[in-house]
Amino acid sequence: MLIIVGSRREGNCHNLAKKLKEKFNTERINCEIITPGNQKIHICTGCMDCDKNGVCDFKDDMKENIAQIKNEEIIMFITPTRWNLLSGDLKIFMDRLNPLYSRQELKGKKMIAVSVGAKPKELYSTEASTTSLISFAESAGMDVILKRDFNNCLNSTDILNKEEEINTFFEEIKQKTV
Ligand SMILES: Cc1cc2nc3c(=O)[nH]c(=O)nc-3n(C[C@H](O)[C@H](O)[C@H](O)COP(=O)(O)O)c2cc1C
Repeated sequence: MLIIVGSRREGNCHNLAKKLKEKFNTERINCEIITPGNQKIHICTGCMDCDKNGVCDFKDDMKENIAQIKNEEIIMFITPTRWNLLSGDLKIFMDRLNPLYSRQELKGKKMIAVSVGAKPKELYSTEASTTSLISFAESAGMDVILKRDFNNCLNSTDILNKEEEINTFFEEIKQKTV
């Protein structure tokens, strides 16, 4: 399992990823976390060279990320909701996955889409950001096996008050993946 965290701060997305990793590791299931916003990742220029040869000319942290993703069967994206959408960091990351897409190497991978937002559920804000994650996954031919929204999370540790929701989510992930 690879968890990709879309927020740079040690906030709700990071705290959720950390909790899930702890739980996976307790059950001896390998789980890694990456935070693209804290890495060196150039913005895609749209040159489309990777469409021809599956290689990006930029030499940065995407090289290792891509190698990691190639080896993973299950990938979870956790995004903070920003203007009802996924975070900019995740969008930059997704654009730089085009070398894998062009080789159909994302196809068939299992994807879990998670959004965290400050607004209440009935405002559909996190629903929209989750939809933006799913839209990427489906375009890439990934198999979206689970989606989850966490609402009313404004301050950086608010999600830690949702222990029951996190436990239920973890059990659902296990059911779908183990
Ligand atoms: C620029 C910006 C835009 C945001 N837009 C939304 C939004 O549209 N809907 C929402 O529910 N929360 C929104 N939020 C709040 C964050 O989604 C919320 O604080 C979340 O917990 C952040 O995750 P983090 O703690 O991992 O950074 C926004 C936050 C920022 C900084």
